[in-house]
Amino acid sequence: MPSDPLSRVWRGKAPGRVNLIGEHVDYLGGLVLPAAVNRFTEVTGNDAGDWSVESDVAGGLAYVRAIGEELGVGPQDVRVSSQVPPSAGISSSAALLVAVAVGLRPDMDGKDAALACQRAEQRATGVQVGVMDQFASALGRRGCALLLDCATLDYELVPFPDELAIAVIDSGERRNLADTPYNERRREAESGDPRRMRHVNSEIARVREFVEALRADDFTRMGELLKESHRSLRDDFEVSTDNVDALVACADAIDGCYGSRIMGAGFGGSILALVDHSKTEQFVSSMHRPMLICATADGAFSTP
Ligand code: GLA
Repeated sequence: MPSDPLSRVWRGKAPGRVNLIGEHVDYLGGLVLPAAVNRFTEVTGNDAGDWSVESDVAGGLAYVRAIGEELGVGPQDVRVSSQVPPSAGISSSAALLVAVAVGLRPDMDGKDAALACQRAEQRATGVQVGVMDQFASALGRRGCALLLDCATLDYELVPFPDELAIAVIDSGERRNLADTPYNERRREAESGDPRRMRHVNSEIARVREFVEALRADDFTRMGELLKESHRSLRDDFEVSTDNVDALVACADAIDGCYGSRIMGAGFGGSILALVDHSKTEQFVSSMHRPMLICATADGAFSTP
């Protein structure tokens, strides 16, 4: 059915995210420290007879329909324009979901929006993701990381210094989360598997220590904690790959890099490195890999 040209056009915009530390702990009620970053997805939409999505990136329809249904909204024509590259590790799916949510329901509470987007992602993909990515895209703040307690959804903004560049480096190993053992890892951890829990407990302790180091501008300690997090994700949670391990070793060896680790769900994907801002160019040319240099940004529902 053609869309009604007189129907209201709505617009939404939401950022991608990085996770500084606290990986594979959100769905267990752990502590995480993501930040919204300065790559955005913008959407416009209007009422229509059926759901449709116009985008340079395939696969958005299931997400858009799922968040619309979560919000109790009827079918929409949605047009997407995005600077958040898919499969680059900065959560293009959360940016899309949150952009649609803020467009359709700008007055919604940011936490409720993040939860609706999490349910939509689970519904669209069958992957039992936690709430971290959607929360960061909704409520992150420029100049800050967001310390989120996933058990209570209480959060605190922690200032993030301009002297640090956030590099997200693509491993080239693409994966669709639904085809990875993500749900299996979640089940293993939930059932208390000792090795998986060793990662979870040590990672939560690292988040606390990282926040202390961040508050003290102790970049060296922050870098060490990233390296420890990587080892734990590699050896105890087993979500890394040889290729990603090699990339982390390469990044860690470059002057100006405080530390790096696999970021997000893993099984390929991207790594995060924290780099001395004044040495960014040198880092980019030494890595020889596609990468995004990101800065923190405002989330869609944050009120600067
Ligand atoms: C994905 C999920 C998040 C989180 C991370 C791992 O990004 O969407 O909820 O579980 O993996 O920390």
